[in-house]
Amino acid sequence: MLEKLKQLKSQAKEEISKSSNLDILREAEVKYLGRKSELSSVMHSLATLNEEERRRVGPASNSLKKELEEMVLLKRKSFTNTSSIDLTLPGVPIKIGHKHPITQFLEKVEDVFVSMGFEVVDGPEVESDEYNFDLLNIPKDHPARDMWDTYYLTEKQKNRETEEQRNKKTEKLLLRTHTSPVQLRAMGTRKPPVRIIVPGRVFRHEATDAGHEKNFYQCEGFVIDKNVSLANLISTLRIFIKRIFGEKMEIRVRPSYFPFVEPGIEVDMSCLICGGKGCSACKKSGWVEVLGAGMIHRKVLENMAKVGGANPPSPRLRRTGWNPKEYSGFAFGLGIDRFAMLYYGINDIRLFYGGDLRFVEQF
Ligand code: FA5
Repeated sequence: MLEKLKQLKSQAKEEISKSSNLDILREAEVKYLGRKSELSSVMHSLATLNEEERRRVGPASNSLKKELEEMVLLKRKSFTNTSSIDLTLPGVPIKIGHKHPITQFLEKVEDVFVSMGFEVVDGPEVESDEYNFDLLNIPKDHPARDMWDTYYLTEKQKNRETEEQRNKKTEKLLLRTHTSPVQLRAMGTRKPPVRIIVPGRVFRHEATDAGHEKNFYQCEGFVIDKNVSLANLISTLRIFIKRIFGEKMEIRVRPSYFPFVEPGIEVDMSCLICGGKGCSACKKSGWVEVLGAGMIHRKVLENMAKVGGANPPSPRLRRTGWNPKEYSGFAFGLGIDRFAMLYYGINDIRLFYGGDLRFVEQF
């Protein structure tokens, strides 16, 4: 019996290795490993052998079976790899993404303002200290700077060099804490009348919670013309909010303080997440603060005329020459994430930036 297995082994190995295509290989497989093969009948006859023979033939036939099966498998793979690629199989579908909910919401905001005659302007995310604060009437050491916890980008003070000496040499850079500096940048190359919005990303070194992120979006808006009033500002904001949320939306206007406006206001919307009952997104108050606004401060208007006028801080800025005394204006800074939370009914701002596809795929 062992002799027979030996013969079968050399015969089978030779035929399998010589198979020149899949059909011939399949024939050899049936012949040596199929139900009616000699190897199969040897294995079936094991029960009729005495114990001594069974102990020798059993393991030998099993290992031959395993060896031939592996050989057939390898040979089949060698054909599949080279000659049997099926070019007619359908391709793997490419998953197409879509715009992030914040981007989708920002586009709605832009559409409303463009329909009211506003121009959309962009500005840098890495901003100078001068544009983020000084030109907005927030001088160095003014306590109002504490309202914006800032990420500064310039290297640490070097050895004996004082901060003042260093600031003279290098412009102090930071990640902009609000979109308001673009008011100045935009007016470097324009003159009134203007209606401008500036959607964009801003950064603050803040502890996060359901309503606060370190990185979020704002949309600045401002109008400069002759005889612009606070009533114009409030009615513009009302129209915008009603166009997005519907006629019945309630807003609350409160006096507030920002150094670059006089007077200043803040606007709250009734919390749509809890229906005004109080939840974590509205700090249990039933209202969500969605924007800051006010009449552009006289000093800021003067700075705007300067950056585009006689003494521009950068030679790149064109001279536009206009008299700030002849004009007035209003400005507002929308908290886009807060608006989007109310619009979509999202109770935690951090979901927007968590990168969880189960969340973003719902929009
Ligand atoms: C400002 O940033 C002013 N630049 C707004 C402004 C513009 C006032 C023009 C006057 C004239 P404030 O820090 O309040 O203001 O931010 C404006 C809005 O951004 C807030 O009402 C709120 O909706 C949103 N916001 C503020 N901090 C965060 C935060 N950490 N996470 C998410 N949204 C925030």
